[in-house]
Amino acid sequence: MFSRVAHQTARRSMQRSFGQPLAAENSKQIALVSAGIVGAAGFGYMLTNNTLSANMADEGLHPPSHPWYHKDPLHTFDHAAIRRGYQVYREVCSACHSLDRIAWRNLIDVSHSEDEVKALAEEVEYEDGPDDEGEMFQRPGKPSDYMPKPYPNEEAARAGNAGALPPDLSLIVKARHGGADYVFALLTGYVDAPAGVEVREGLNYNPYFPGGAIAMARVLFDGLVEYEDGTPATTSQMARDVTTFLAWAAEPEHDDRKKMGMKATIILSTLTLLTVYIKRFKWAPLKTRKIVYNPPK
Ligand code: HEC
Repeated sequence: MFSRVAHQTARRSMQRSFGQPLAAENSKQIALVSAGIVGAAGFGYMLTNNTLSANMADEGLHPPSHPWYHKDPLHTFDHAAIRRGYQVYREVCSACHSLDRIAWRNLIDVSHSEDEVKALAEEVEYEDGPDDEGEMFQRPGKPSDYMPKPYPNEEAARAGNAGALPPDLSLIVKARHGGADYVFALLTGYVDAPAGVEVREGLNYNPYFPGGAIAMARVLFDGLVEYEDGTPATTSQMARDVTTFLAWAAEPEHDDRKKMGMKATIILSTLTLLTVYIKRFKWAPLKTRKIVYNPPK
């Protein structure tokens, strides 16, 4: 025993004088101690009751990406789809959802002609006034009026929907992660709750809705509306059309924006090419000149 220790001490002192092998031993020890600390910390972390975990139901199922016509950098909105989508909004969604930021006039030359819009607006009664006697009165709508609200206030909306508030749809496509893909997936994504998932009375299971239980029931069913252009009104067709309509409502400047972008790109790239050409042209005499030095003889 003693002789071994003595032997090691002798080796150490020898190593110390040579330097190199001792450094190797030191780093081995440091590595072992570090591994020990990391291991102990990891074990301790494992034992603590950490509640951080990713849960599909909390986030909502990721909506599949849909090849929207307007997503192409060179495409406008599909305006026939906006027209059909308006019909779906009016006949189905507007029973519960407002569309506060859209006035009748916004539809002119987007999905309807001016005369059609005037006729649509006139079908709705608006309160106006006061008149000469100070009374409020009802009058038919004008293109400058905003889309009518289904409920006079938030309390009435909640009362009509078992406490849940149907959000205004004007900006919903911009207000949700996944945008149009999310709205489409939500409208077409109603399924029976999987085994083991309890859905409270009055709520409906939809895996795309964060939390999985949504107060809005499935509203789209095959053949619910009759399209004037003869498109078969399947659930997914109506969901696609109304989502395109809502994407337009959230971003009515979309078509103009792309057109402006295209003009700017064409003009600026032409100017760039012209600039490059003129630069080379102007610099040509300088770039091609030859300087000759004649030393004195
Ligand atoms: C019967 C009333 C009703 C109808 C009709 C209805 N909704 Fe809803 N909708 C609701 C309610 C209530 C909520 C709120 C749900 C919640 O918060 O749980 C809601 C929520 C939504 C949401 C938001 C979901 C989210 O992420 O917060 C969207 C988008 C939506 N509806 C779209 C539509 C569209 C599009 C239509 C027409 C095709 C439609 N709804 C028809 C009642 C309705």
